[in-house]
Amino acid sequence: MSNFRRGVLLKPISALNLLAALAAPMITAVRAQETPPYRNPRLGVEQRVDDLLARMTLEEKVDMVSGGGWMESKPNARLGIPAIKMADGPVGVRNWYGPSAITMKANSPLPVITSTAFPAGVALGATWDPELLREVGKAIGDEARALGRDMMLGPGVNIVRAPLAGRNFEMYGEDPYLSSRLVVPYIQGMQSEGIIATVKHFAANNQEYERQTIDAKIDERALREIYLPAFRAAVQEAGVWAVMSAYNKVNGHWCAENSWLLTDVLKKEWGFKGLVVSDWKGTHSTAETANAGLDLEMPGAESIRRYDEARVPQSPGDVGSRGAMQTPEKLLPLVRAGEVKEAAIDDKVRRLLRVMFANGLFDHSKPGGGEVDTPAQRALARKAAGEGIVLLKNAGGVLPLLPGKIRSIAVAGPNAAVARTGGGGSSSVKTKSAISPLDAVRERAGSAIQVSYAESLPEAAELAAKADVALVFAGDSAEVEREGRDRESMDLPAGQDELIAAVTKANPHTIVVLNVGAPVAMPWVEQAPAVVNAWFPGEEGGHAIADVLFGDVNPSGKLPVTFPRKLEDSASWGHYPGKDGVVEYAEGIYVGYRHFDKKNIEPLFCFGHGLSYTRFEYSDLQVSPREVTLKVRNIGPRDGAEVVQLYVRQVAPSADQPVKELKAFRRVELRRGEAFPISFALDQGALAYYDTAKKAWVAEPGTYEVLVGASSRDIRVRGSFELAK
Ligand code: GLC
Repeated sequence: MSNFRRGVLLKPISALNLLAALAAPMITAVRAQETPPYRNPRLGVEQRVDDLLARMTLEEKVDMVSGGGWMESKPNARLGIPAIKMADGPVGVRNWYGPSAITMKANSPLPVITSTAFPAGVALGATWDPELLREVGKAIGDEARALGRDMMLGPGVNIVRAPLAGRNFEMYGEDPYLSSRLVVPYIQGMQSEGIIATVKHFAANNQEYERQTIDAKIDERALREIYLPAFRAAVQEAGVWAVMSAYNKVNGHWCAENSWLLTDVLKKEWGFKGLVVSDWKGTHSTAETANAGLDLEMPGAESIRRYDEARVPQSPGDVGSRGAMQTPEKLLPLVRAGEVKEAAIDDKVRRLLRVMFANGLFDHSKPGGGEVDTPAQRALARKAAGEGIVLLKNAGGVLPLLPGKIRSIAVAGPNAAVARTGGGGSSSVKTKSAISPLDAVRERAGSAIQVSYAESLPEAAELAAKADVALVFAGDSAEVEREGRDRESMDLPAGQDELIAAVTKANPHTIVVLNVGAPVAMPWVEQAPAVVNAWFPGEEGGHAIADVLFGDVNPSGKLPVTFPRKLEDSASWGHYPGKDGVVEYAEGIYVGYRHFDKKNIEPLFCFGHGLSYTRFEYSDLQVSPREVTLKVRNIGPRDGAEVVQLYVRQVAPSADQPVKELKAFRRVELRRGEAFPISFALDQGALAYYDTAKKAWVAEPGTYEVLVGASSRDIRVRGSFELAK
């Protein structure tokens, strides 16, 4: 029996307590009125979206679908909807106050933002290391949180179709499978920090020449097999929260109003639940764009006016994009007139709110924590740069430089005393500091080795003649490989070929180190005993280059893009950059190595190529339709990593097929003498091609050959299997 019932109170209840006890239910009810469900973090995302959407007027909903500033969506004060704070880009957090044409200027009037500059996309592509990409994505997400940004405008996954395209350096190379396997962990890493990743540029932004007006004519099989897979993986495997529509047209329709891309494929077929954001000022209509599936137009109309004079320099004849087409002034009348359904506006706002609720934008106004440019982030940048460096040639084992064996190094070249951290345009990041290769070589050489330096000719050759080895740092810069313009040729900038020739002539132990984000011509390649491609390696690239040159890091990078002997050999030759506003992707699926294989053309350096300071042996291949196993042993003089590549070839296809295609790879680190068993799962989907007549993926029964090797043309072991019906 309760004490209370016996009339004996365990302790005196004061009148106040009693009043509070009686009033509690009423207070709760009142508080429920004050705290609407959408503000309750314990409720599910969809519940909160439904509740908030139902509270919005038509005017408030329409107001949401165009930007509030240069890098922010529009907030709603009445309902407490915050702005989504964005920032470029794929290699780190870029200044969000304005376009890179302003923020990267030395005398920029805007506040300065610095962060860690990680290696460019193509350098990350050259690592073939998905877990490393996860770490990089996470680190950039961490910095974005620390800097108070909610959404990063990256990664970029456009396929490298044309060697001269200005933004090739930002992408993961020419192969859709490699790009897919790398973009997924990068996005997962970034989004694990509560930061919205934006996969871009959807789709087929494969050149900068007239990028804002060009119409890319691409057959559906090439779209499905080459240009869309990395976006599909980002959506279906990584759960990317945002997709950026590209500037260009695809098959006659601007990407920002291309309903086949944005609605049929992205939202209906792939089930994308996030938001589609336009590229900046990349919209050209109001009703068409609203009905095709764009959810957020950026930037805000007012900031267009403010920054229009600072646009990234465009290629000739580029009329530029418009923007400010989804403003309330333009959109609201069309909704009222029924030309744009309110349901279409609701879907946009639903997507915006879903992304915001799912990423905590309502529950803490500025994500706490996170750090910028820490020793750990610098160390990761150095590790990523080192893993991406590709040893293209090493005749006579001139590398690594062994301090005990050499006493003098002559350094030359325009890229020696400057850190070429990245390419130009919206991906460029300002760092607190970045070490040049020359300083890093001096630091590593120490007092035991005498390092001399002359940027160029005849002093550089004279110094080289007197030294044990010569290093020539050459290649491109952010002015040569940049957003908004393609290169005119594959030639290195003026004077560099002559410098390299003179130094290699003066010293038979010359090493050429390149900063290039895309294929270049190397007329001196026979004379140079060693060639290293360091890409645009981020702020720690100087250290990473020295790590590889002195053997502290054993290079393991593999080319994610074919280096042709001459431009005419490349797949897009003859159908790039297009004319009269149209570029025909006449090569279809035969992009990159698929083209060189099909046409039986010997490249300068093939897809997947990269040497090591040790050697690997492949053996014990076992092949079945479901699994491939083999053993790889390090039989050389030092520890190292190998990227084992698996290609598949259908022996007698009924349809037109590539000679072989990359279907699996694994980067394995092996100590000297160590052997490692590798197994690859092969699913039938991996063998399928897209049948445009059936509008379906088809894996044809028959004999398939499995080719496993250290590059696409260094096949070490092969086997075959029968795929039954
Ligand atoms: C640029 C780029 C895009 C970038 C955006 C914002 O024009 O095409 O990659 O994220 O505008 O700077």
